[in-house]
Amino acid sequence: MEILKTVNLTKIYGYGENKVLALNKANLEVKQGEFIAILGTSGSGKSTFLNLVGGLDTPTKGEIFVKGKDISKLKKEEQTIFRRRYIGFVFQNYSLMPVLNVYDNVVLPISFDKGQRINHEYIKSLLTELGLWDKRKKYPNELSGGQQQRVAIARALANKPAIILADEPTGNLDSKTTSEVIGVLKSSSHKYNQTIIMVTHNEIIAQACDRILRIEDGILRKAGEQDV
Ligand SMILES: Nc1ncnc2c1ncn2[C@@H]1O[C@H](COP(=O)(O)OP(=O)(O)O)[C@@H](O)[C@H]1O
Ligand SMILES: [Mg+2]
Repeated sequence: MEILKTVNLTKIYGYGENKVLALNKANLEVKQGEFIAILGTSGSGKSTFLNLVGGLDTPTKGEIFVKGKDISKLKKEEQTIFRRRYIGFVFQNYSLMPVLNVYDNVVLPISFDKGQRINHEYIKSLLTELGLWDKRKKYPNELSGGQQQRVAIARALANKPAIILADEPTGNLDSKTTSEVIGVLKSSSHKYNQTIIMVTHNEIIAQACDRILRIEDGILRKAGEQDV
């Protein structure tokens, strides 16, 4: 069974004259451990797609199956629990808590979830793997952009989510740091058999992934596939 499947996933924002068809019947199947890139220009529907899959927003039509369970019709509280348990997010702006050190930022999502205990050995191995163990007492403003994004990746991996969703994770980084961060995502995907869906407008970054899809005006296609 695939870890993620979307069926005719559709999102319309606004009403009447202001209606925007942000996502138009998107179909995608993802296997566990795949590192997928969704490539598209600004406004093409990338964030809309990720936010729907991650339960940050609800679809207008269509279904989302995570491990076979339809999550598209969950209520607000159920959506929050689903998100904590199954999804890790990595955003362009890192979105770390400035008042928490590296270690506490990474374990924060686990500490929110009352049903889960922090596995310190795993967190230590994760931070070591990402080159952050000796930085664990530092605060975000004491770190470079690339280091902050590695912390955000460690945080996303911390509770071993079914899927990591990365929204333009290297959008604020220079090209050297970008390849470092993409390398970290790729090795995490291999080492932990972690499924990652990354959206980007950058063709070169997308090339690092196992599979590339394209999105244009809310329509998701395999790379190279044309309109019929
Ligand atoms: N909350 C919203 N309300 C109205 N329109 C939105 C909203 N979010 C996104 N859109 C529109 O949906 C389309 C897709 O946006 P988005 O998914 O953010 O694109 P991308 O992430 O590829 O830049 C754009 O036309 C955008 O203006
Ligand atoms: Mg976006």
